[in-house]
Amino acid sequence: MSAFPPSKLLAIPTSDLCVPESPESSATLSEPLAFSLIIPTYNEAQNISRILQQLTHLLDQAIPLAYELIVVDDDSPDQTWKVAQQLTPQYPQLRVMRRQTERGLSTAVIRGWQVARGKILGVIDGDLQHPPEVLLQLLQAMQSADLAVASRHIEGGGVSEWSPVRRFLSRGAQVLGLLILPSVVGRVSDPMSGYFLVRRSAIAGRIMNPLGYKILLEVLGRGQIQQVAEVGYVFQERKQGESKVTWRQYLDYLLHLAKLRSGGRITRLRQKYQLQRFLRFGLVGLSGVFVDMAMLYLLSDPTTLDWGLTRSKILASEVAVINNFLWNDRWTFGDISSRQSGWRKRLKRFLKFNAICLVGIFLNVLLLNLLFNQLGLNRYLANLMAIALVTLWNFWLNLKLSWRVTDVEP
Ligand code: GDD
Ligand code: MN
Repeated sequence: MSAFPPSKLLAIPTSDLCVPESPESSATLSEPLAFSLIIPTYNEAQNISRILQQLTHLLDQAIPLAYELIVVDDDSPDQTWKVAQQLTPQYPQLRVMRRQTERGLSTAVIRGWQVARGKILGVIDGDLQHPPEVLLQLLQAMQSADLAVASRHIEGGGVSEWSPVRRFLSRGAQVLGLLILPSVVGRVSDPMSGYFLVRRSAIAGRIMNPLGYKILLEVLGRGQIQQVAEVGYVFQERKQGESKVTWRQYLDYLLHLAKLRSGGRITRLRQKYQLQRFLRFGLVGLSGVFVDMAMLYLLSDPTTLDWGLTRSKILASEVAVINNFLWNDRWTFGDISSRQSGWRKRLKRFLKFNAICLVGIFLNVLLLNLLFNQLGLNRYLANLMAIALVTLWNFWLNLKLSWRVTDVEP
């Protein structure tokens, strides 16, 4: 046990999520450090001492006394922050932040960068899934780049035993990103990576406002990144604890892309409003499922009209589309349609809506077959994913085409 007491926890910045131009001047340091590495943690008490031991061993040889490690813990129930703090006497270059009011991986990283003293800022997962030794190649790459990303999708990269579903979701998210925000997501081969280094000057002074897990999106979208380097790495299997990734992170990822796509022009209010509009659109879609089912029963069930299935399904879908249009026109997009009065404009909106939904039904069947027959997903999970993706398609296209904000009376 060391004779020195554990160092104090770091004060948490409460200002905007903005990295200062010059590192926090601190009494103990005349020169800024070369490198600050943030380790965001949530319930990593079983991993934290091992990763700190590996990182210090590696960096003490590569850049002795010129680096610091900052653990940013979100008040983990397993007290990861306390385990890390008790290791500070053993690792003088380690500092610990315990957040109790804010939560979230991306903001944890930025809060760490805000108190960091290095000219190069980095992030690595605290669960040993990111091999520490790759840091040396990333630091090397930073000699001529503003951003060096550890990528699973280039030479030397890969994931260990990921399930086909996890591989599909990760790749699917990337494809969606390329569709929504090619200028950002298209700049790197692994936009989902949470293991990278960035030059302070490339992001300093820029207010960031990330969502969820994908801090790299925020850096690419808001930073002044000229030169990007990539280093291949194999994403390791977790040995202790479990991933905190849930569906919420996937939704956050899509919202994050949409926000970056707007270039931040959408104010927080409108952002909330768009989300509200999307949730209404989803609810209306759900009501359409019930209408579709009820109509299918009334038309095709042997105890009712007993019509043919295909004819019944086509009619049922059309009645559901009309139901959805009426609700969307009145409720979801009411603020826009109320400024597009007259039956002619309404009919135009309905025809566009109808066409988009019919394409959506076709896409739904296509995706369902791809997910079920090609990827071997469970049919109901496949259908749910297909419906979710097509709902996004329907919402976005209808917002852009059927209820186009530009097409309103002044
Ligand atoms: N402070 C803080 N707050 N840390 C968090 C939080 C949080 O809310 N959620 C997760 N972490 C920490 C975890 O403790 C871990 O060190 C790291 O962030 C990654 O979290 P995981 O839950 O292990 O994510 P994963 O293994 O599924 O990895 C995916 O996300 C990572 C982060 O973006 C993959 O996409 C990785 O490539 C990526 O690095
Ligand atoms: Mn992990």
